Amino acid sequence: LRTKDLKGLRVLMTAGPTMEAIDPVRYISNHSSGKMGYAIARAAEYRGAEVCLVTGPVNLPIPHGVEAVHVQAAREMLHAMESRMDGADIIIKVAAVADFYVKNASDHKIKKTYGLPVIELEKNPDILATLGQRKNQQFLVGFAAETRDLSAYSKDKIAKKNLDMIVGNLVSGPDSAFGSDQNTVTFFYSDGSEEALESMPKEKVADKLLDAIVSRMHSRRNG
Ligand code: C5P
Repeated sequence: LRTKDLKGLRVLMTAGPTMEAIDPVRYISNHSSGKMGYAIARAAEYRGAEVCLVTGPVNLPIPHGVEAVHVQAAREMLHAMESRMDGADIIIKVAAVADFYVKNASDHKIKKTYGLPVIELEKNPDILATLGQRKNQQFLVGFAAETRDLSAYSKDKIAKKNLDMIVGNLVSGPDSAFGSDQNTVTFFYSDGSEEALESMPKEKVADKLLDAIVSRMHSRRNG
């Protein structure tokens, strides 16, 4: 049985994919079941935190006691996070944000009888980097899914996005985390250290992550 070691702390997080409309019936998105993010939200609530989960569309129930904010496009997710970040102690960005949105999204269903549509893409805002620029005392955690060079890319993101920590996982091959109940991750910290975890259920990864955050915040407070 774990203690309520997150009591009094506010956790703001994201999970799931973002969904970028092409027209009212079509969209561009990313692979993301939401399982990892929802597991973290559940674990944080269980350990006493006040949890707000900004979530893209997924097929999972909102964990008990967690406040949910439902969004679709990345631009909505950015707004939801920016307006809530000041009250947060810990921010964890698990969501698989689409890198592009459709600039010429149609208000009406695009008809195939009109020939091939041209879909113009525009870069989405980097939500995590925006939060990194604006953060004060918040402990900011990102996720990185890569198919190769996990360590180099993760360390680069910590620096570029001004993070305290990143959870990296390799998403190629038979052990891919997508849709799976298991995950094999490495924790990377802003001081350059790293910690590779065994393959374990996402619930257990969630608790290990919260353990790591609690311990880092504690040592930060105590110099
Ligand atoms: O740069 P990359 O997409 O690999 O970074 C992954 C991390 O950045 C994740 O934590 C993801 O939620 C976040 N991210 C974001 N906004 C974007 C792209 C990624 O917040 N537009």
